[in-house]
Amino acid sequence: MRKKFVAGNWKMHGSLPGNAELLRGVRAGVAGLSIDIAVCVPYPYLAQTGEALKGSNVAWGAQDVSEHAQGAYTGEVSAAMLVEFGCQYAIVGHSERRTYYGDTDAVVAAKCEAALKAGLLPILCVGETLDERERNVTAAVVTRQLDAFIARCGVAALANSVIAYEPVWAIGTGRTASPEQAQEVHALIRARVARESAAVAAGLRILYGGSMKPGNAKELMAQPDIDGGLIGGAALVAADFVAICAAAQ
Ligand code: 13P
Repeated sequence: MRKKFVAGNWKMHGSLPGNAELLRGVRAGVAGLSIDIAVCVPYPYLAQTGEALKGSNVAWGAQDVSEHAQGAYTGEVSAAMLVEFGCQYAIVGHSERRTYYGDTDAVVAAKCEAALKAGLLPILCVGETLDERERNVTAAVVTRQLDAFIARCGVAALANSVIAYEPVWAIGTGRTASPEQAQEVHALIRARVARESAAVAAGLRILYGGSMKPGNAKELMAQPDIDGGLIGGAALVAADFVAICAAAQ
């Protein structure tokens, strides 16, 4: 039985005073839940987040990581630096990174490898655009994104990773994949991994992301291959994020 996992992705939102309140609300609201929970915050807020969540059942992480261990890469942040700030997770290959910052499948795989080497768990995001769904190439796109990871890191590395299926057309649009649509892709991902290793596939947590809200979370997470959620907008409201965590319990 896989333990459910709910992670918040704050994206580029927040302020020191606003975060303090949000983190307090999340910490208090999820105390006692036995699922895995994390918030992935902008880099400058990692210290604040670590302080606010120390000793709680909420872990924290970053929203990206450099593929390089160190060096002359202005503006980049290494996995080792994230570990110093107590991060357990790094989101890698979010569609916003792929679309706006040119993160290719190969770069995403290299970033995952860098995260894994430093002891971070990558949350590898995969998912098709609306155009790709309408052209019926969802399976091909998601498989290509997953295969880039497997080729670079090996299937065994998925034992220390999390996958998030985020259909691009559902992100921030209020248009959620139906539980059946999401389940179909989650099952496909697990089957692809099972071809390499049945044991890794059985233990792999596959999160759904894309307009998950308190009102649809339970139904989505009731699907056999949906092991939790990666939450954007609803992670910015403590009561909503807490309600989604409670629905996962
Ligand atoms: P929304 O929940 O705002 O649709 O965002 C999903 C997402 O991109 C999480 O990484």
